[in-house]
Amino acid sequence: MKQAIYAALVVGMVIGAAPALADIASKAVGLKRVKQAMVAPPRVPEHSQIAKGGPVIVEVQLVTHERELVIDSLGTSIQALTFEGSVPGPLIVVHQNDYVELTLVNPKESIMSHNIDLHAVTGALGGGDLTLVHPGQKVTIRFKATKVGVFVYHCAPGGPMIPYHVVQGMNGAIMVLPRDGLKDGDGKPLVYDRAYYIGEQDFYVPRGADGKYKKFNSPAAAMPETLEVMKTNEPSHVVFNGAVGALTGENSLTAKVGESVLFIHSQANRDTRPHLIGGHGDYVWPSGSFNDAPKTNLETWFIAGGSAGAALYTFQQPGLYVYLNHNLIDALLKGAAAHVKVEGEWNNNLLELVEKAGPIE
Ligand code: CU
Repeated sequence: MKQAIYAALVVGMVIGAAPALADIASKAVGLKRVKQAMVAPPRVPEHSQIAKGGPVIVEVQLVTHERELVIDSLGTSIQALTFEGSVPGPLIVVHQNDYVELTLVNPKESIMSHNIDLHAVTGALGGGDLTLVHPGQKVTIRFKATKVGVFVYHCAPGGPMIPYHVVQGMNGAIMVLPRDGLKDGDGKPLVYDRAYYIGEQDFYVPRGADGKYKKFNSPAAAMPETLEVMKTNEPSHVVFNGAVGALTGENSLTAKVGESVLFIHSQANRDTRPHLIGGHGDYVWPSGSFNDAPKTNLETWFIAGGSAGAALYTFQQPGLYVYLNHNLIDALLKGAAAHVKVEGEWNNNLLELVEKAGPIE
């Protein structure tokens, strides 16, 4: 039986597990429909924090896009596999008990087959078993978002193609909010003024005999050597939002003193430990489960590979903050760092310079 399951995984099918089309989510019939436009991270789709009225069907479309992606300032590039062209793919935001009607489109220009396994989905390998689309195909599933929290989604077309597609960028997250919004451990409402979606990504770029990163002209050509680097479990790059520096400089995140910011952070493959230099995690859901009371006042939190978490922080001081993976090697030698530029009034009561640096007398 075990062998049968493994074989099924490899070919992307589970014998007898797929429900008939007519049986899927029949209670969704007649519900109001809402289209959710996908936006590139770190932006998040427009949404209300508290659900207005009863459950709805949220229509979402994800188009797969195989593309060259420059991942550092040296011009190193990979043959990325993506949802909607970005790494990570767009954040989907719904409320508990909404239905998500997700259409996955694989354009005919693609050379690979793709699917989607959403960790928010119940059954059929998280939807992976129902959604395999070859180039030139599309598929639609509808699932009920029964569990609240933040969940990873990723491509999972079978066997070694699962980690290959994931580490070439094919992952994202879905946030399922409680219908009455986020709460602290005492049930008091927690509201955010803005939210950012940070997708952390490990890349495994092969090097040539000269020690330089190799360039390939298709995801198929890159695969054999990339798989060899992947087996070492030593990423060449660990980045936020697809490239070293994607969220620094003019692409820094922004906020104002007094604003509460929700940092949604996913890592589809590898453990990570976010930290906000100069700030804290006021309220943190490290595993992303909004049903659990958030942990409070954390310095660093842990997000297990294959999951997403969220942290809420109210900025108290203006200036530059660094949001990073506090594996400092991953952050500063491999790229997993973002900047947050915060405007506002400085509060000397929280921190002040008493005497400037000068010679010891
Ligand atoms: Cu894929």
